[in-house]
Amino acid sequence: KKVGVLVSGTGSNLQALIDNCADPTACMCADISLVISNKPQVLALQRAKDAGIPAVYLNPKDYATREEFDAAVSAQLEEHKIDVVCLAGYMRILSPEFVRKWKGRLINIHPSLLPRHPGLNAQKQCIDAGDRESGCTVHFVDEGVDTGAIILQERVPVHRHDTVETLTQRIHQSEHRAFPRALRLLTTGRVRLSSQGTIMWYS
Ligand code: GRF
Repeated sequence: KKVGVLVSGTGSNLQALIDNCADPTACMCADISLVISNKPQVLALQRAKDAGIPAVYLNPKDYATREEFDAAVSAQLEEHKIDVVCLAGYMRILSPEFVRKWKGRLINIHPSLLPRHPGLNAQKQCIDAGDRESGCTVHFVDEGVDTGAIILQERVPVHRHDTVETLTQRIHQSEHRAFPRALRLLTTGRVRLSSQGTIMWYS
């Protein structure tokens, strides 16, 4: 399966996906074939180039509306014959049209145990709430914010003296395991999104 990854920043999750897909023993059934960023000169674009993967920056200011920008993203994905799209730290709201077009083939990683702490600053929300446990969630994307059907979660403890930074680091490590695992479940046909928006498992 050809995988496109949308990014906005550091791209450590992108790197985890690249590394797993390059490892034949990981059996990912996935090639990272295109990386698109809505931010210029981010480390994620450099990571893609270093791995020999086409890396495209699209400037939202070049488009009159969100729909037009997302249509340009879709056009790039289609041009590269992308089957599955991963959001890896993509800090931009998607238009409903884009979500509908890629439904069932579009997954996101979020740094909390959803449905707890959706939206921005999930790690701070977690610490402020006094949670003893956090983690990450990989889910299909629907029209809501961090609401789609959950493929898998990985849990990490929250320590008494954790700061947002120390917790973020621990969650990141779990993300780098969870995202490739979830992508593999999708590209190997083990999981699918039903037309009702629920998870379907296949053995
Ligand atoms: C991750 O924590 C991810 O859950 C969130 O944005 C962060 C991206 O980090 N959506 P990176 O760019 O992959 O390092």
